[in-house]
Amino acid sequence: MKEQVTRRRFVQTAAAGSVALSWLGTGHAPMAFAAEADKPALLGGTPVHQGGWPKWPEWRKSWEPEIIEVLRSGRWSSAGWGGKVGQFEEAYARLLGAKGCVATASGTTALITSLYAAGVDAGDEVITSPFTFIATYNVCLIHKALPVFADTDPDTLTMDPATIESRITDRTRAILPVHIYGLPCDMDPINAIAKKHNLVVIEDACQAWLAEYKGRKCGTLGDLGCFSFQNSKHLPSGEGGAVTGNDRELLDRCQSFHNCGRSYGAVRGSGCFTRGSNFRMTHYQAAMLLEQIDKLVSDTQRRRRNADYLTAGLEEIPGIRPVRLPADSRAAWHLYAFRYDKDEFHGLSRDKFITALRAEGVPCGGGYREQYYDGLLDEAIQSRGFRRLFPAQRLKAYHESFQELKGNREACQTTVAMYQSMLLAERRDMDDIIEAIRKIHAHSAELTT
Ligand SMILES: Cc1ncc(COP(=O)(O)O)c(C=O)c1O
Repeated sequence: MKEQVTRRRFVQTAAAGSVALSWLGTGHAPMAFAAEADKPALLGGTPVHQGGWPKWPEWRKSWEPEIIEVLRSGRWSSAGWGGKVGQFEEAYARLLGAKGCVATASGTTALITSLYAAGVDAGDEVITSPFTFIATYNVCLIHKALPVFADTDPDTLTMDPATIESRITDRTRAILPVHIYGLPCDMDPINAIAKKHNLVVIEDACQAWLAEYKGRKCGTLGDLGCFSFQNSKHLPSGEGGAVTGNDRELLDRCQSFHNCGRSYGAVRGSGCFTRGSNFRMTHYQAAMLLEQIDKLVSDTQRRRRNADYLTAGLEEIPGIRPVRLPADSRAAWHLYAFRYDKDEFHGLSRDKFITALRAEGVPCGGGYREQYYDGLLDEAIQSRGFRRLFPAQRLKAYHESFQELKGNREACQTTVAMYQSMLLAERRDMDDIIEAIRKIHAHSAELTT
């Protein structure tokens, strides 16, 4: 215990001044810190972090009466609108400063609904980010549209706006930027390109609850925004999602489409129905989400405080590069990600760095892979439907264009991400993360052998 405190104090002192850090680049620690106990845990030393991390999700007994109320009401389906689902839609729209919200069964179904409402159709193309959860690719394919990838800016991990325009063709209908890890995309240039080319913008904000860009919340910056409330997310209900936006007509189309195509607002089917599916959220899910909104707000503040502290400590370590946010923006910090430069760690591979960090009691992993090489897209573009909809030349050029995604390759090869609930821990736990990485840096030469 005493020794841990001593090490912590060292981290705090070292983080405050680069003089104290000057030895880090040499691989030779001052004598006091080269002691046995300071060896990396992977080489038999004591792990820096003991005692685990906040578990996720969190449930409070005081929230249970709302769920019981749904059970006892006998009103279990949300087909007729209103009820807890309606209350949640109002509360979530208010929270984001959006005109409206449509609650859905998941983030995936929110995205499918939005693409439909925005008029994305078979044979269209959607410009999106390759550095994302696979659902972003899949929702385009479900509509028989081609997900065309803009490159990733490795410094921000989001879509590089400068790489969008060259990908626009006469089939492009929408831009689908992803606020990955809760990091806001640079939306002004994206919206400007969309306006110039008459494209709709649908934000994949599935990891970006309460993230902000220039004073407005993610999910209200494009034409429509999509959220996920899956178990691992900051506002969880097991499964669940939402579409948000400021355009009533688009929102009406979402309401109608996700509720079997029932007439809604401006949307009138020829009979009662138009095209649609059943992507409704249940009242149980809505009751869970309503109870957790205040917690989301306080958790977000805590995550931001811890993320800022972590960033200040980590950017002092050679070879660790925290992500860069667009000007005047605030992240939601879903996973806390940074980029790793093995050259500053005596060539220690990212995988070995991750293994060493885990051994110190700091759970982490790599970011996303280059998923366009995983086979999903090959399977899609070789399917009968896609071959009917797109000329062979276009599909060939599409596949070849993956090689141009150099920024994305770099992001995939160098990102390290830590699990989301870690940012809900104490300040001293952030010190442990910083200290663990410093320790690995100081001993990186030994770890490479
Ligand atoms: C970026 C992104 N898009 C879409 C989704 C899909 O959301 P869901 O899992 O709720 O369907 C997720 C969920 O993990 C996501 O992280």
